Amino acid sequence: MKYLITGVAGFIGYHLANNLSKKNLVYGIDNLNGYYSKKIKIERLKELKKNKNFKFSKINLSNWKKLKNFLKNKKFDAIIHLAAQPGVQYSLKNRRSYFDNNIKAQFNLLEIIAKFDATKKFIYGSSSSVYGEKSNKNETFNIEKQESFYATSKKMCEVMTKNYSNLYKFKSTALRFFTVYGPYGRPDMSPLIFLKSIYNNKKINLYNNGSSLRSYTYIDDVVNFIIKSINNNLFLRDKKNYHKIYNVGNNKNLSTINFVKLIERNLNKTSKIIKLKNRKADIKNTKANIDLAIKELKIKPKISAKLGVKKMCDWFISSSSNFK
Ligand SMILES: NC(=O)c1ccc[n+]([C@@H]2O[C@H](COP(=O)([O-])OP(=O)(O)OC[C@H]3O[C@@H](n4cnc5c(N)ncnc54)[C@H](O)[C@@H]3O)[C@@H](O)[C@H]2O)c1
Repeated sequence: MKYLITGVAGFIGYHLANNLSKKNLVYGIDNLNGYYSKKIKIERLKELKKNKNFKFSKINLSNWKKLKNFLKNKKFDAIIHLAAQPGVQYSLKNRRSYFDNNIKAQFNLLEIIAKFDATKKFIYGSSSSVYGEKSNKNETFNIEKQESFYATSKKMCEVMTKNYSNLYKFKSTALRFFTVYGPYGRPDMSPLIFLKSIYNNKKINLYNNGSSLRSYTYIDDVVNFIIKSINNNLFLRDKKNYHKIYNVGNNKNLSTINFVKLIERNLNKTSKIIKLKNRKADIKNTKANIDLAIKELKIKPKISAKLGVKKMCDWFISSSSNFK
């Protein structure tokens, strides 16, 4: 099989490419932006380039001409789109980056598929943040408002993709990820921020007094969900709707303070915790309802928080200074 993965130097893209390139040809695109340390992205790419089934191109998806020239004569068994501007807090001030890298970038990819028939299967990263403060909802829940422009950009991508896939008849799947963590994780997200602080004996800020709940989801479970949705044959039975949405997360959630305690236990250290009030746009309670994925994709997460945190800590201890 031949796949295109966008955002391949990112956290989820890297892990998916690592898995798929064992048995398939994988083309990866990333613009290696500086939202967080480029060194980390380059380190992930270095790992991927060890595999001869992996080909990398540095391309900005919001640059229509470059993207078109690169993709117009290529065909893929699936395109998995994981490039994006993530981050809720960053979106409070940097809205344009979400327009360019989420809405415009996804529009350009959809245009490539509609115009050049680049694939019949498009799978892309959406987010639990589209639910706002509503927790444990299924995918058909009518979402009235989002709490950040990040979430709105993700919702807009879903609406746009549903329209394209139904009009131009290619199968598309939105995967609403819930707080993903694990080796080679994102340094802007709480799991690695906590881990780094505890390891380096630094203070930890816990918003909402540490009582916010998160469906922490281990990266290997997320990769398995993505692969299952690439191979999802249910579309063949449903000819009227070419767009599907699945929640992808651990259906057991955990408070941020308990997640911190798990890290402390693994590193055999305690940390100085500073309890703060909740920040604007931070969701207090997320819980993944994955009934649909269990029913249709026949999949559920296998890695408990206890095991996942252990794996992340073991990796961190042996990781390079770029992550520490
Ligand atoms: N990690 C999570 O917990 C989480 C949760 C919910 C949703 N998501 C979504 O999952 C997807 C993957 O997230 P991630 O955690 O791997 O993020 P990431 O930031 O680690 O990876 C995204 C990659 O996309 C690249 N990129 C950004 N804009 C680009 C552009 N215009 N052209 C080319 N490349 C570009 C970045 O350089 C980066 O390497 C995103 O859509 C994100 O919004 C992630």
